[in-house]
Amino acid sequence: ADVFTFDPGFTSTASCKSAITYIDGDKGELLYRGYPIEQLAKESSHLETCYLLLYGELPTKGQLADFTTRVTKHTMVHEQMHNFFRGFRRDAHPMATMVGVVGALSAFYHDSLDITDPWHREVSAIRMIAKLPTIAAMAYKYSVGQPFVYPKNSLSYAGNFLRMCFAVPAEDYEVNPILEKAMDRIMMLHADHEQNASTSTVRLAGSSGANPFACIAAGIACLWGPAHGGANQACLEMLKEIGTVDRIPEFIAKAKDKNSGFRLMGFGHRVYKNFDPRATVMKESADEVLELLGVHDNPLLQVAKELERIALSDEYFISKKLYPNVDFYSGIILEAMGFPTSMFTPIFAISRTVGWISQWKEMIAENGKIGRPRQLYVGPARRDYVDVKHR
Ligand code: CMC
Repeated sequence: ADVFTFDPGFTSTASCKSAITYIDGDKGELLYRGYPIEQLAKESSHLETCYLLLYGELPTKGQLADFTTRVTKHTMVHEQMHNFFRGFRRDAHPMATMVGVVGALSAFYHDSLDITDPWHREVSAIRMIAKLPTIAAMAYKYSVGQPFVYPKNSLSYAGNFLRMCFAVPAEDYEVNPILEKAMDRIMMLHADHEQNASTSTVRLAGSSGANPFACIAAGIACLWGPAHGGANQACLEMLKEIGTVDRIPEFIAKAKDKNSGFRLMGFGHRVYKNFDPRATVMKESADEVLELLGVHDNPLLQVAKELERIALSDEYFISKKLYPNVDFYSGIILEAMGFPTSMFTPIFAISRTVGWISQWKEMIAENGKIGRPRQLYVGPARRDYVDVKHR
């Protein structure tokens, strides 16, 4: 009989070779194409980071200008798509809407179906990066009963997204540069993270030759889960539920109790076992944004900081190496910007799109095999069919 390595949850299986993102979980190090995330978060922009992830090198000034033009040319979605949104209930979760709408893009861009042509793959990649903010903003506008706002391409990637979410007709909307910078940083910090669940989903879907829009829709569906991208929504909801600092011990006790089924959201990571470098940047960013917006004594931030302090000195969390992850502080920033919690995971999806598509392109270019895991069968041995009269 065949002998397989049994590795549920893929804790020790490398599924591919990749030259995109490097993580050292013990050191708390994250590199995109060799560049430390801290340096990129400080010096770069999301679109420049997209170029780096997609093509492997930082762009020259000319290359960045050309890339920006190519992305902005594709930010609109087909006008018929509006009808698709209108088919959803207003109270649908924006992630549910996005899974459907992104999957449906292949019904509009037929060239995406031919993935053997590198030019088609390139155009699909650019379309996806360009259209995801538009689609997420439309899902939001639809949910609050406001008209869709078309992209304004003189704005930055992050600024354009904020405007599509928050501008209303007949009123001027100025993008706040502080929020624009913070949004851009959130996007960069989430841009790629090697073979996490949603990226592995995109690769597995892509390995069958499925079109890229279908693959990204599969990635969005996977990201939505609370153990993955859905943690940012769950974390902020948890901080609100805790509400005040004096209730923290109750929640810590619940998280330590295996029978409660409760976990501290925004804590723990499969790979990072010392700290999540993205969380460090995010925490600084949360402080900056609240300070600059003049929000002092934000009760959620107080709860978050105290929860972090208590958890990090608790034997349970220390022994299991559970630290705040990227999602622990991002929600505080997004809430201060005015986003409802249901938009947190869609913003993660916009940001991760470049990672998904870069990994998909890398995989297709390699001409690899279809992903086809095996299993350890634990069901009944061979037996003969019994007629219903004799059961
Ligand atoms: N609160 C309480 N206990 C926890 C937590 C937590 N947040 N996370 C892990 N543990 C415990 C867990 O019960 C287990 O205990 P034991 O060994 O006694 O059975 C041990 O720590 C190891 O946990 P695990 O589930 O085997 O670890 P994993 O590597 O499979 O899971 C994780 C990683 C991120 C899914 C998990 O830590 C978790 O559920 N965290 C909360 C959700 C979250 O914040 N997710 C976002 C991750 S970062 C962004 C992203 O990936 O999208």
